[in-house]
Amino acid sequence: SGFPFVVMKSLSKLGVPSAILEFLFGWVDAHEECAKIPEAKGSVSAIRSEAFFIPLYELYLRYGGIFRLNFGPKSFLIVSDPSISKHILRDNSKAYSKGILAEILEFVMGTGLIPADGEIWRVRRRAIVPALHKKYVAAMINLFGQATDRLCKKLDAAASDGEDVEMESLFSRLTLDIIGKAVFNYDFDSLTNDTGIVEAVYTVLREAEDRSVAPIPIWDIPIWKDISPRQRKVAASLKLINDTLDDLIAICKRMVDEEELQFHEEYMNEQDPSILHFLLASGDDFSSKQLRDDLMTMLIAGHETSAAVLTWTFYLLSKEPSVMSKLQEEVDSVLGDQFPTIEDMKKLKYTTRVINESLRLYPQPPVLIRRSLEDDVLGKYPIRRGEDIFISVWNLHRSPKLWDDASKFKPERWPLDGPNPNETNQNFRYLPFGGGPRKCVGDLFASYETVVALAMLVRQFNFQLAVGAPPVEMTTGATIHTTDGLNMTVTKRIKPPIVPVLEMPTLKMDSSVSLL
Ligand code: HEM
Repeated sequence: SGFPFVVMKSLSKLGVPSAILEFLFGWVDAHEECAKIPEAKGSVSAIRSEAFFIPLYELYLRYGGIFRLNFGPKSFLIVSDPSISKHILRDNSKAYSKGILAEILEFVMGTGLIPADGEIWRVRRRAIVPALHKKYVAAMINLFGQATDRLCKKLDAAASDGEDVEMESLFSRLTLDIIGKAVFNYDFDSLTNDTGIVEAVYTVLREAEDRSVAPIPIWDIPIWKDISPRQRKVAASLKLINDTLDDLIAICKRMVDEEELQFHEEYMNEQDPSILHFLLASGDDFSSKQLRDDLMTMLIAGHETSAAVLTWTFYLLSKEPSVMSKLQEEVDSVLGDQFPTIEDMKKLKYTTRVINESLRLYPQPPVLIRRSLEDDVLGKYPIRRGEDIFISVWNLHRSPKLWDDASKFKPERWPLDGPNPNETNQNFRYLPFGGGPRKCVGDLFASYETVVALAMLVRQFNFQLAVGAPPVEMTTGATIHTTDGLNMTVTKRIKPPIVPVLEMPTLKMDSSVSLL
């Protein structure tokens, strides 16, 4: 902002008309002239913390629902206001792109649905959303049950051995197993095995997360890519995943070519209900890089997010035993020894509220990233195109102005007979799955997934923070992680007494009637 501004001022003193100056220097920082958006001071050091959304919360309390953060030569707008968020995400969404996010994730997601913008996004969104139809999501509920059952077996062993367990990594494996089957019919079986492909997925994930918080993109330096052992490992992992994807696509393509099923709206192959199968049957080009990008995107989008939700839900429950008791009471009364069904989803009302509330306190991801594609007005402030914007969902969800007892874990704040809270009925103060045209396509999937896992786990076990474990603190990648894991002591619950069923008319009477 400095130098061009000085030149402009000098020209103005020399008598150059202001209309010409405005034309020539229109690109010079608009905020310099309007000087309205509050600017956070001392901001560089303020965000040099691991979980960067924490200092952003402090700055929000000081500077309000929109402020500018200067970070060396870069500057960001931090938005924590429901109506400005609604404007960016929904009402004027066409004026915003994914910006930095797309740049960071390009190496793994290419032009997959999360980073994609413009026409590519429009076409792919229209292809992918129908794949997650009602019948598909209902079929997934059984998969959630099976996968969670594997985790229960693992916990069973730990409970009888009296060993503490690190739940965060177990949840990560649970949701990886689920998303692999759900998206491309592949069983990572990561809860039982540590195969090369599982390690490759984690190498790539860790890289994506590190890049999203790294200040300088060193991976972009050409020679670095070739000599850095770490970057070579990332490249090898990507290749392994891509080769596996190619195989899965080929297998699926053969199945689709051989089957006689007609494609229709709620098309689903019972043997392979995966999203990939739907896409190929719908006529998606099996040879395209775009298909691979979208599969990779869903693998990542649907994996760490759900894992993080479960991790923080169990953390929150460990701090509020009264919520846990209420939860277990509901689960005991709804679930039997069968895997949960779609009907159970409607009955597990309190369980759902626990997840709703966990998503409020620990939104995944804690910030949404956008870049303005044109000049716009946010609230009362004009902004220029090219602004990088962070919408802090964390701030929205924890704002003392928007919530009573904002920092308290209180599932009761959501009435059991009320609607499921979402961005629309909460007027953009609650955005667990984003909002507007870029809203999560997996919201229902993820809600059922986390409800099934939570319900099955707390039905069978009690969970407590392990004695002597390090305090549970936060760090960020794309989602909120713990710094040292979530170490818990798991004990088997004593089964609730089986309540006898009402006396039925006895068989004897029946048979005597028939004998007559
Ligand atoms: C987008 C959250 C699970 C696929 C999003 C967004 C959020 C979100 C907040 C919006 C991002 C933005 O506006 O910048 C979550 C949470 C999940 C979850 C909290 C788990 C609890 C899933 C699952 C899938 C999925 C299971 C896949 C089956 C996607 C995709 C997008 C997306 C493809 C991009 C949509 C678009 O840009 O058109 N998710 N998600 N998510 N999510 Fe999810």
